[in-house]
Amino acid sequence: MIVTTSELFATAYGKYAVGAYNINNLEQTVGLFRGNLGLVGSNDDAVDPAKSAPFIIQLSRGARAYTDKRFLEAMIRAAEEVFDKAIFAVHLDHGTEEVCYDCIDSGFYSSVMIDASHETFDENIAITRRVVERAHDKGISVEAELGMLGGVEEDIEVDAENACLTDPDQAVEFVERSGCDSLAVAIGTSHGAYKFAGSQGLHFDRIEAIQKLMPGFPLVMHGSSSVPREWVDRINQAGGQLGDASGVPEKDYLPAAKLGVTKVNIDTDGRLVWCAVYRETFRDKPGDFDPRTPGKPFMAAYAEYITHKNQMLGSAGQLEEVRASVTGQPA
Ligand code: G3H
Ligand code: 13P
Ligand code: ZN
Repeated sequence: MIVTTSELFATAYGKYAVGAYNINNLEQTVGLFRGNLGLVGSNDDAVDPAKSAPFIIQLSRGARAYTDKRFLEAMIRAAEEVFDKAIFAVHLDHGTEEVCYDCIDSGFYSSVMIDASHETFDENIAITRRVVERAHDKGISVEAELGMLGGVEEDIEVDAENACLTDPDQAVEFVERSGCDSLAVAIGTSHGAYKFAGSQGLHFDRIEAIQKLMPGFPLVMHGSSSVPREWVDRINQAGGQLGDASGVPEKDYLPAAKLGVTKVNIDTDGRLVWCAVYRETFRDKPGDFDPRTPGKPFMAAYAEYITHKNQMLGSAGQLEEVRASVTGQPA
């Protein structure tokens, strides 16, 4: 069942974070749905309530352009039928104004992200405001971004580092003037597999300061992959060349969630699982050229990984409460 992103946030806020996972293809889609229902192997009926989680499917502009955006929509609709116990939202990740309008007009998306964080403060507000007006007309919610993600390296001077992070007072003004429904904040993370140098980590003091000024308002943490050593090592042992990769420690997810981080974006980790399984498969079976040979173990591994991730986010086991809240029927 596709629901609004706001419905998921209402149940989760302050208790756990909803995983927002990017997909590009069929195998990722199937693995994602299985993982969020705690399904093991390929038995699509054995839903495990203790492991089942609400989730957000994210489609980036790159994903929409990879083949044709209509394939993604059709695949998600098919998954909604096959995995009929799943409750999820569909979200545009890092949209431009034009792509946001395309998604809003399509009637398929639960929410869109307008990313005008590279613009000036006032221009970011003006663009976000336009998208909000058009989205709210159709009951779609809007995530915006304030601050600069990434580039926070250990050798950056304290002043420069702070300048990249979201300013709490500006966040309040931004939300009031733009009317956005959730805010992606820069709190020390960055996209990709190389996040922190040395002892860098999440700036909990900054999250706390923002929450204090905006209690109850959902914050979003981009660049939240944990980049597990295990998967990086497996890739490298199978011929990959990933350097000094690092991510957000999974133990940080729940404390961040308690401070209002209600959506946690994860893309890179899924790519690492994909890369490791495909490399290992073709290394171990050099005579094989069937796309299903790596596809099957990948779907299983990705499902297991998603189930694990949801446990770390605190969303595992929350599906029935969300169902009760969106349907009005007791859990
Ligand atoms: O934040 C970006 C996401 O990881 C999407 O990446 O644009 O390569 O699909 P992509
Ligand atoms: P990662 O690169 O850490 O997976 O972040 C993904 C993201 O923020 C998508 O918007
Ligand atoms: Zn992002």
